[in-house]
Amino acid sequence: MQIINARLRQKPELFTLHIENGHFTKIEKQDGTLADTSLNDDINADGNLVCAPFVEPHIHLDAALTAGEPEWNQSGTLFEGIERWSQRKPMLNEADIRKRALSTIELLVQNGVQAIRTHADTTDPTLIGVRTLCALRDELKDKIDLQVVAFPQDGMLSYPSGLKLMEEALEIGADVVGGIPHFEYTRELGEKSVKLIIELAKKYDRLVDVHCDEIDDPNSRFLEFLACEALFHDMGDKVTASHTTAMHSYDNAYCSKLFRLLKNSGINFISCPTESIHLQGRFDTYPKRRGVTRVKELREANINVCLGQDSIFDPWYSLGNGKLLRTLDFAMHICQMMGYKDYESALDMITDNSAKTMCLENYGIKIGNPANFILLEGFDDYSVLRKQGEVLLSVRHGEIIMQRQPAQVISKPWISTI
Ligand code: FE2
Repeated sequence: MQIINARLRQKPELFTLHIENGHFTKIEKQDGTLADTSLNDDINADGNLVCAPFVEPHIHLDAALTAGEPEWNQSGTLFEGIERWSQRKPMLNEADIRKRALSTIELLVQNGVQAIRTHADTTDPTLIGVRTLCALRDELKDKIDLQVVAFPQDGMLSYPSGLKLMEEALEIGADVVGGIPHFEYTRELGEKSVKLIIELAKKYDRLVDVHCDEIDDPNSRFLEFLACEALFHDMGDKVTASHTTAMHSYDNAYCSKLFRLLKNSGINFISCPTESIHLQGRFDTYPKRRGVTRVKELREANINVCLGQDSIFDPWYSLGNGKLLRTLDFAMHICQMMGYKDYESALDMITDNSAKTMCLENYGIKIGNPANFILLEGFDDYSVLRKQGEVLLSVRHGEIIMQRQPAQVISKPWISTI
């Protein structure tokens, strides 16, 4: 298989990508545009951007597609979301979770995603979410990279047997240890939970991804504790802080000090801008905080930061369509990243940076890597972002898994005659 007339990120020329046995074997610079070849499985990219697949590093597949069941989150707060989810949890069963998770995965794949990190709630004595999503991960292992986070939604130490359930989830096979220190009853319990998360990650050799300081409270400072633990245990590249929305409200002098630790620790960040702009700032009158972590500043400090959707039609967020380009568009606006330099590498936040966060191996368009890629409408990061076009093609191990015809617009004469 060959992909001709392809643009690659940060390169102005056209390329031909050669694929054999599901791997990239040659990437050749072209001398101008090539005509269609006669080989059946060749693809003409037509000057569009061939990009590494999108990565969804933060979503809750166990809760997806449950908005309004049995009641809607009317206040729009994160805490009412947790209450509504508590009402939905007793209705969970394997078939229910499996059906909704598969529909959501399909939606994500249709929009160019080939790797997903999902959280699975462990504060449920049956652990049905963890069991179902781990089984689905194993079943889909040749089709998609799926990681499961053992996530204690109601607290690891504040929920009865929360710690025991967390350990059981890791025994079942969850890939990542999660946490929610800002939701534990006290600061002491929150700090203790972070220590336990790191201990469990070391004991079971797992990654870490903590819902960290997802609150507008400027005194919620578990991030420094998490980063410090990661630094002292030399495991920063395996540790992720999700949300960190309190950082939006931190005093600037404190933040300046904090960034030194964050940089030294090497931890990763995930921001979910659509979710945070919706859930945070709910206790403010006016002015209302945006409640999104400092994505621009993290990028400028060369700290790894990526973007996730968090929810699709669930008790916390009742919109969402699986399109990470939409999430990226929101982030660029909300975090005021609209200088030309911001645009040039914008796609990093839904591709390479997310792959680094998930510790994905053999990711990217390189000779020898599996031929996993997507085709995007546009010729560079900026044009793809501005156009907000559809993903035209998704190829995994050299096989087409999704193809879409570009929309046709038929212009009417009243414009062309002006
Ligand atoms: Fe989340």
